[in-house]
Amino acid sequence: MSIHNFIYHRATRLLFGEGQIAAIADEIPADARLMITYGGGSIKRNGVLDQVHAALAGRFYVEFGGIEPNPSYETLMQAVALARAEQIDFILAVGGGSVVDGTKFIAGALRYAGDAWDILARRERLVFDAVPFGCVLTLPATGSEFNAGAVISRRSTGDKLDFHSPNVIPQFSVLDPATTYSLPERQVSNGVVDAFVHTTEQYLTYPVDAKVQDRFAEGLLLTLIEDGPRALSEPDDYAVRANLMWAATMALGGTIGAGVPQDWATHMIGHELTAMHGIDHAQSLAVVLPSLLRHQRQAKHAKLLQYAGRVWGITAGTEDERIEAGIRATEQFFERMRMPTRLSGYGLDGSSIPAVIAKLEEHGMTALGERRGIRLEDCAAILDGAR
Ligand code: NZQ
Ligand code: ZN
Repeated sequence: MSIHNFIYHRATRLLFGEGQIAAIADEIPADARLMITYGGGSIKRNGVLDQVHAALAGRFYVEFGGIEPNPSYETLMQAVALARAEQIDFILAVGGGSVVDGTKFIAGALRYAGDAWDILARRERLVFDAVPFGCVLTLPATGSEFNAGAVISRRSTGDKLDFHSPNVIPQFSVLDPATTYSLPERQVSNGVVDAFVHTTEQYLTYPVDAKVQDRFAEGLLLTLIEDGPRALSEPDDYAVRANLMWAATMALGGTIGAGVPQDWATHMIGHELTAMHGIDHAQSLAVVLPSLLRHQRQAKHAKLLQYAGRVWGITAGTEDERIEAGIRATEQFFERMRMPTRLSGYGLDGSSIPAVIAKLEEHGMTALGERRGIRLEDCAAILDGAR
C-alpha cells in the first residue's frame, strides 16, 4: 500500500497572530456590500467586534447576529433573506465554527436557485457558486476556517447534516490567538477534543505508508496532549493559545488527510447524538471514539499499535495490551480535559440508541468507516459500549 493519488490546493489566506484583525480591510473589496455574521454575542463582550468595526471604518456593512451553536437552518434562512434584501456581495463571519459553518451555508444558499434545504438533504454536491466570504475565528476547534465543509442542523426535524463544496472555502481567515482568552473552559475543552478527533479520523485507519501525513498527525496529537490541559491551567498563556489554534486549523485543513484513508464514523454517530440530545459536538466525540476504537481494534490494529507507541510511548506488553492501553490513555486525556467519555456522564442511559440508529439509517449512514465496514448494528454496539 502507498499514498493514494490526491490533488492538494488551499485557497485561503491565513492571517495568524495577535492584532491581525486590523488587516481585514485589505482582504475585503473596498466597494463590497458586506454582511457581518456572528453568534450569541461573545464578540461584543470580548472586544472582537470593536476591533472589526475599527478595521472596517468607513465601509458599508450590515450585521446579522444570533447564529447559535450547531447553527440552525431556520436562523440561517433569515440571514439569507436579509442578505438578499441588502444585495450583499461579501460576508465576514466573526465567531466559532458554528458562525463560520452557518456563513458557508448562507453564502451557498444565496446563489442556489432551488430549495436551500436540498444543499444538506440531498447528500450530493449542489453548491457550485457562493458569495465570497472571510472569517475572524474566535474558537479553535473545527478547522472550518480553512476547509470546504459545514454542518447545519434543522431543529424542526432533528437533523444535523454536513455539506461540502470548494466554493465555500473562506477567502481569508484571521487566526488571532488572543481572541480565545475569553473562551469558557468548556469551549476550550471542546476545541481540543474536536481537533484531536479530527486527527484520529484521518490517522487511525489502516497504513498506506504515508510517512509525512502520519508524523504530521502524531505531531498534532502530541501538541494537543501537551498544551490542551495547559490552556485550562494557564489560560492567559499566549504561546499555548497560539499552538492550539494552529493545531486545530491544521487538524482539518486537508494536509494530514491528503492521500490517506479516512474514517469519520465517530463524527457521523456523534452528529446524531448532538441532534437528538443537544450535547456539544466534541462531547459526542469523546463518548463515541474510545468505544469505536475498541470495537474496531482488529480493522485498525496496525495503526492503533503505532498510535500507542508513538503518541503515548506505550511499548510494553502484548499487542492487544498496548492497543488497550492507548485507548485508555485517550479516555484519560479527554477526562483531563474535563470531558466525560460515557453516555452516563451526560445523563443518558442508552435508551435512545435505537432512535439514534434509526436517524443514521434515515440519513443513509449505513456503511461508515474507512472500509465502509461499520454497519448499523456496529453503530449500535459502539453506542452500547459507551453507556
Ligand atoms: O455564540 P457566541 O456568543 O459567539 O458564543 C460561542 C458559543 O456559545 C462561544 N464562543 C466562541 N468564541 C468565543 C466564545 N465565547 C467566548 N469567547 C470566545 N472567543 O462558544 C460557543 C460554541 O461556539 P461554536 O461555534 O458552536 O463552537 P465550535 O467552534 O466548536 O463549532 C461547533 C460546530 O462546528 C461543527 C459542529 O458540528 C458544530 O455545529 N463542525 C464543523 C466542522 C467543519 N466545518 O469542518 C467539522 C467539525 O467536525 C464539526 O462537526
Ligand atoms: Zn468535529
